[in-house]
Amino acid sequence: MNISPSAKPSIRVLTGIKPTGSPHLGNYVGAIRPAIQASLRPDAAAFFFLADYHALIGNEDAQSVQRATLEITATWLALGLDPARVIFYRQSDIPEIPELCWLLSCVAAKGLLNRAHAYKAAVDANTEAGLDADSAINAGLYTYPVLMAADILLFNAHAVPVGKDQVQHIEIARDLAARFNHLFAPEQPIFTLPDAVVDANTSVLPGLDGRKMSKSYGNTIPLWLSHAQLKQAIAGVVTNSKLPDEPKHVDESALFSIYQGFSTPEQAAELELRYREGIGWGEVKALVTEAINRELAPAREKYAALIADPQALEQTLLTGARRAREIATPFMATVRAACGLRALSNLASNGVAGGADKHPQKHLQKHLPKLSTFKDSEGFRFKLSHADSKLVLLESIAFDDAKSCGVAMAALKSSPDDCFRAIELGCEFEFEGATLANGAASLAQVLAQLSLLREAS
Ligand code: TRP
Repeated sequence: MNISPSAKPSIRVLTGIKPTGSPHLGNYVGAIRPAIQASLRPDAAAFFFLADYHALIGNEDAQSVQRATLEITATWLALGLDPARVIFYRQSDIPEIPELCWLLSCVAAKGLLNRAHAYKAAVDANTEAGLDADSAINAGLYTYPVLMAADILLFNAHAVPVGKDQVQHIEIARDLAARFNHLFAPEQPIFTLPDAVVDANTSVLPGLDGRKMSKSYGNTIPLWLSHAQLKQAIAGVVTNSKLPDEPKHVDESALFSIYQGFSTPEQAAELELRYREGIGWGEVKALVTEAINRELAPAREKYAALIADPQALEQTLLTGARRAREIATPFMATVRAACGLRALSNLASNGVAGGADKHPQKHLQKHLPKLSTFKDSEGFRFKLSHADSKLVLLESIAFDDAKSCGVAMAALKSSPDDCFRAIELGCEFEFEGATLANGAASLAQVLAQLSLLREAS
C-alpha cells in the first residue's frame, strides 16, 4: 500500500458495536471514548457500525434489540462521534454483509470455527454440565466469526480496534481473506488482511464490587444517570472500613481507579496525596461523582435531545448506510465475479466455452472494463466502468478540451499502480502532481480492472 504524504486518509479503521443492553461507564472509558478520539485522526477513514445481526444470536426479544440500537446510536452521537466524518451505519442496512458472509462461509474450514473461543466456551460449559456438547447453541454463535469477517473485509479495513476478547475473531477474518484471495484472486488480491488494534493504554474501569465493570458481573454504573442518580450509584462502590484520618492506599481502591478514568494524571496524583493524608471515603465519593459529572453533563443533554427524536437518528443511520453501500455495492460485484457468480454471457472470458467458441476474443471484448469520454456542463471527462456490473469506478475531473481529456485517459490506462491510491471513500488517480480522477471503488478493484484492460490490449 502506498502511504501518500498528503493529509488525506489512507488507513481505514473499522469497528462494530453490538447493540445489547444500555451503555455503562466501563463501555465509555474502555471503548467509546478512545474510539471517538481515534476517529478524529486526520490520516484515518473511520467506519463505525451497529452490529445488530450479531446481537440476534443472544435471542433477545425484538423490542430490546431495537431499544439498544436507539440508545447506543444516540450515545455515540452525544459523545461526539461526527457522522459527517465517520461512516456510521447499521449492519442490517447493508445487504452486502450477509451476502459476503455466505461467500466467506464457503471458504471457512469448519475446524477453524470449532476452535473459536466463544463457541468453545459454550461447548465446555455444556460438557461440564453433563449436557450434549451443542445443547442450546445456535448456528449464529457458531458462524459469528464469519459474519464479523464479512463486516471487516467488505470495506477492506486495515485496522480494527477491539477488546482483547475479539482478537481471535480478527485473526479468523485474516485467515478467510487470505484463503479467498488464494483461491479466487491469486494475482491481484481482492481482500486486505486486517489487523486487530488492542489499545494497551485504555483503562479497565472497576464496577461497584471492585471487579472489572461488566454486565455479566451485574456491577455496572449506567452511563446516562442524572447527577443525583450518579451520586447514589457512586455511594454504592465498595471501600474498606478505614476511618477518616486513617492513611489509605490507592491500589486497593475502586474509587481511585474510577477517578483516574475521569481526571488528568495531575488531578489523580493530588488525590493520591490526599489518600495518604487520610481523606474520608465520603469526600472521595463526592470528588469521584463531580469528576464524572463534569465530563458527562454536556453530553447528557445532547443524549436527551437525540433520544427524543428517533426519526432523526434513523435518518443519520440511513445516510451512513447509503455512504457505506456506495463502496460495498461495486466491491461486491468484483467479489461475486471472482468466485464464479458471473453472467452466462461472459462464458468465454473464463475459458469455459472452450472449443465451441471460435471467437473468444470477440466475446471477451464485450466484457472488458470500459474507459470512455463524455462531455458535461463543465467540460470533457473520462470514466472507468466495471466489466460486469458496468458501475462507474472512477470519474475524471473536467478538462477544457477533448484532447487533454484523451491524453489523461491514456495516462490512466498506462500508469503504474502507484499512481492510484486509497482515499477515504474509495480511490483516486494522481498524475504529475494532480488528482485527475477519483471514485468510490476500492483501490484493489480499480487495479484489478485496469490490469484486465491492459492484458486485453
Ligand atoms: N463482536 C464484536 C463485539 O462483540 C462486535 C463486532 C461485530 C465487531 N462485527 C465487528 C467488532 C467487526 C469489530 C469489527 O464486541
